[in-house]
Amino acid sequence: MSDFKRNIIITGGAGFIGSHVVRLFVNKYPDYHIINLDKLTYAGNLVNLKDIEDRPNYTFVKADICDFNKIGELMKQYHVDGIIHLAAESHVDRSIKDPFTFAQTNVMGTLSLLQAAKLYWESLPERYEGKRFYHISTDEVYGALELTCPEGKKSEISAHEVYGEEFFHETTKYQPHSPYSASKASSDHFVRAFHDTYGMPTIVTNCSNNYGPYQFPEKLIPLFINNIRHRKPLPVYGKGENVRDWLYVVDHARAIDTIFHHGKIADTYNIGGFNEWKNIDIIKVIIKTVDRLLGNPEGYSLDLITYVTDRAGHDLRYAIDSTKLKNELGWKPSLQFEEGIEKTVRWYLDNQEWMDNITSGEYEKYYESMYKDR
Ligand code: NAD
Ligand code: TYD
Repeated sequence: MSDFKRNIIITGGAGFIGSHVVRLFVNKYPDYHIINLDKLTYAGNLVNLKDIEDRPNYTFVKADICDFNKIGELMKQYHVDGIIHLAAESHVDRSIKDPFTFAQTNVMGTLSLLQAAKLYWESLPERYEGKRFYHISTDEVYGALELTCPEGKKSEISAHEVYGEEFFHETTKYQPHSPYSASKASSDHFVRAFHDTYGMPTIVTNCSNNYGPYQFPEKLIPLFINNIRHRKPLPVYGKGENVRDWLYVVDHARAIDTIFHHGKIADTYNIGGFNEWKNIDIIKVIIKTVDRLLGNPEGYSLDLITYVTDRAGHDLRYAIDSTKLKNELGWKPSLQFEEGIEKTVRWYLDNQEWMDNITSGEYEKYYESMYKDR
């Protein structure tokens, strides 16, 4: 038996969103044992969790989610009754170059976690009672929406303007376009199949683009903040007209906490910021904020904007309707975008060492090669 009230494996806890989820759970639930299971790929960084690494209710285990035997041993060793699954290959551009790694980690890795959980939980007298397998997914599985209001129009459900009539709902048909979203869609189907076939208590959530501290600087916002600081070009794909719905990462972690504890088994919840932005507009906000905080004159870094060849199969618009989560479980984003982006830019500027440790190594070589190939 375990001394803790709950024993939860969080996979991918050394990554961007995972580190916020681990921090929230370790701080908020001292009576839970949080086991952070991460392979530490290029995207995993234990520095993200320095502030909680010595807590008595926290354990880090370096392991691959594809290692079915190891996962089974860990579940037994720690009496695991909950899994919050975030580990994944997560960058669309990488998936275009190397789809096999995405199928391996996102599909086979999820399947191996599911099967290990199934065998362990089915071996217990109480079987699935009190257990939970919570799979974190993306809105990208739904494909892309039309840009029917290119100038933006007033939203009926949020304070922010929207760029189309349609939204992704929990019932929207899956239509993934990139190898990344195809691999996530496939993993979502496996999770639901384990509920429908074996009765495993699963939950799936699909979230919009996250932003905030500790995001790996291959993604738009941290990459551009760092490039502005170093007066490097800002590669805008295509015309910069694509629309994304942005959510502050701590709000995503809060949603995960709510859904893990109160979500309905076998259900799906969409999580979003009600916060649509065209890439070029968000890029201008980032430039303005970084320039102001660095003491540069307004407009100083606008000349860094460099239009480059578009991403292959670039989805035009993502927009999540998270009304169900709001109505059923009472969650809504806590931060206005202006506040979130200010906090985010300040964090990256104040934590230059974190950024330099990443960008001074292998990643820099990879990044340079990405742009040589374009
Ligand atoms: P990330 O790339 O920052 O982190 C991924 C983590 O998973 C890293 O710590 C990495 O080491 C670990 N990992 C990768 N392969 C592994 C393996 N085989 N075994 C064990 N660990 C492994 O990703 P993120 O942006 O934090 O995304 C986390 C999850 O949330 C993903 O499942 C992603 O699909 C989903 N998601 C992300 C966003 C977003 O905007 N970033 C939005 C919606 C959903
Ligand atoms: P990204 O952060 O990679 O997230 P996702 O592809 O999962 O939405 O990209 C966000 C948007 O920014 C997307 O439309 C692609 C675009 N983008 C650029 O224009 N330039 C860049 O260098 C990057 C990384 C992204």
